[in-house]
Amino acid sequence: MRDKVTIIGAGNVGATTAHWLMARNICDVVLVDVVEGIPQGKALDLYEATPITGASIKVVGDQDYSATAGSSVVVVTAGFARKPGMSRDDLLTMNNDVVAQVVKKAAEASPDAVFVVVTNPADVMTYVTWKATGLPAERVMGMAGVLDSARFRVFLAAELGVSPKDVVAFVMGGHGDQMVPLTRYSSVGGIPIETLVPKDRLDAIVKRTRTGGGEIVNLLKSGSAYFAPGASVAEMVEAVLGDQKRVIPVIAHLDGQYGEKDIYVGVPALIGRGGVEKIFEIQFTSEEAEAFRNSVKGVREPLSVLGF
Ligand code: NAI
Ligand code: 2OP
Repeated sequence: MRDKVTIIGAGNVGATTAHWLMARNICDVVLVDVVEGIPQGKALDLYEATPITGASIKVVGDQDYSATAGSSVVVVTAGFARKPGMSRDDLLTMNNDVVAQVVKKAAEASPDAVFVVVTNPADVMTYVTWKATGLPAERVMGMAGVLDSARFRVFLAAELGVSPKDVVAFVMGGHGDQMVPLTRYSSVGGIPIETLVPKDRLDAIVKRTRTGGGEIVNLLKSGSAYFAPGASVAEMVEAVLGDQKRVIPVIAHLDGQYGEKDIYVGVPALIGRGGVEKIFEIQFTSEEAEAFRNSVKGVREPLSVLGF
C-alpha cells in the first residue's frame, strides 16, 4: 500500500509541496484547508497532471480530517502571513491558535504519523505542535534548515561558478536573521570553502543567507517563498517515507544536546521512518557557540510570549 501524506494548508507552500511530492511519485497526497474549494480544486488540478507526468498516485482535497486518516506524514503549512499593521506577536498568537487546533485534529486521525511543521515562526510552531499533539518528540520536526542550507549552497555555487550539487553546506539555529550558516563545515567537491572564497565574500554570503526569506518577500511584494520551501519539505518527507537515514538540518527537539533543553531548533539530524532518529552534535568554535546560543535565545523569547 502506498503511503499517504497530509498537507494542512493548501496555500502557496502547501500546494507546491504537493506538486514536488507528485513529481517524486512517492505517496498519495491529501490537501486540507479551511477555505472551501481550494484544497479540492488544487488537488484535482494536480491529479489531472498525473497521466502527463507519469505519476501513479492520488491527490485529493478536503475540509474534513477524516480524509487524512492513517497518514504516514503530516505537513503543517496552515496559518497567516504578516500583514501591514500586524505585530510579530499578533502573528505569533494567530498562528499558534491555528497550528494548535489543526495538529490536534490531524494527530487524532493519524496517531502514528511524523509531523513536519512549516508555519512560521517555524521553530516555535514545531514546539507548539509537539505540545498540542503530545506525540513523542522525535516524531515532530520542523522545516527550515534544508531551505536555509539550499539558499547558502546556491549563493556559494553562484560565487564560484560551480554546480550547487557539489556544494555541501549547512545552517543551524533558529529560522530567523540569527540563524548560523557554518562556513567552517562547508565544502565544494570536498574542498573546504574557506580556502576557495575570500573572507569578505563569505561574510556577504552568510548575511544574504540569513536574510534569504526577506529577499524573496521584497521581490514578490506580497507573500513569501514557496518553490524552494516546497522542495525542502518534499526532501524531508521522502527521507521519512523511504527510511533514508539522511543527515540533514531540521528543527528538532533538544534535550541536553548543545547544552539546551526543552526547545526545538535547527540542528543536523538523521532522518528516517521514525522521524528524528539521531541528533549530531558538532564541535563549535567559541564564536559559533555564541552565535548558536543567541539564535536559541531568539526562539525562547516568542515561546515565552506564548506562555511556554
Ligand atoms: P498561504 O497564505 O499561501 O497559505 C496558508 C494557507 O493556510 C491558506 O490557504 C489558508 O487558508 C490556510 N489556513 C489558514 N487557517 C487554516 C486552518 N485553520 N486550517 C487549515 N488551513 C488553514 O501561505 P504560504 O505561503 O503557503 O505559507 C504558509 C506558512 O509557511 C506561513 O506561515 C509562512 O510564513 C511559512 N513558511 C515557512 C517556511 C520555512 O522555512 N519554515 C518557508 C516558507 C513559508
Ligand atoms: C522563508 O524563509 C518566509 O520563512 C520563509 O522564505
